[in-house]
Amino acid sequence: MKNIDRWFILTGLVFLLTGMALGLHMSKAQDFTLHGLHAHLNLLGFVVMTLFGLCYRTWPKMQEGILATVHYLLHTVTVATALTLLFFMLSNMDLAPKLGPILDTVLLGTVAGVVLFFYLFFTRARE
Ligand code: HEM
Ligand code: HEM
Repeated sequence: MKNIDRWFILTGLVFLLTGMALGLHMSKAQDFTLHGLHAHLNLLGFVVMTLFGLCYRTWPKMQEGILATVHYLLHTVTVATALTLLFFMLSNMDLAPKLGPILDTVLLGTVAGVVLFFYLFFTRARE
């Protein structure tokens, strides 16, 4: 994918808008059950994705080839899936024993993406 830096930041902004909408809802309803979801939409979604995007922008060599696209897809798909599962879990804690292990497995994909990013940063972000 071209301009992966832009895709990271655009997708992060979608997470931010979702996280802020949820924050406003929690505040209005005075119900903070979903605060963990709100925090991770904003942090794992927006903040982390924006930092990735800015790094890909600063060191364009990191974008060459397919690995940056793999990282983008891994992060976006696993974070969106994990946070959807977290929504259902926090809304109904009876689902936790069932959804918890799936959530943990999905997040391994997020971690794999960070390992990939580490590799790209370590080998290509030189000047
Ligand atoms: C429209 C914007 C936002 C609103 C209305 C909002 C609202 C809230 C509310 C009501 C809580 C729950 C507080 C509690 O549990 O006592 C919360 C928690 C939190 N918010 Fe936001 N928030 C907004 C934006 C953000 C952003 C942009 C970030 C991060 C970049 C953020 C990070 C957090 C974190 C980390 C917590 C969890 C704190 C904790 O419970 O330990 N929020 N927010
Ligand atoms: C695979 C990635 C991650 C996992 C599995 C994870 C897991 C967790 C868990 C289990 C909690 C405790 C929730 C609770 O007690 O309600 C937590 C809280 C928190 N995490 Fe993460 N986290 C991850 C990534 C991150 C990242 C990247 C950030 C920041 C950039 C972050 C910031 C926070 C903060 C601020 C809290 C406390 C806010 C709250 O209690 O709502 N996390 N995280």
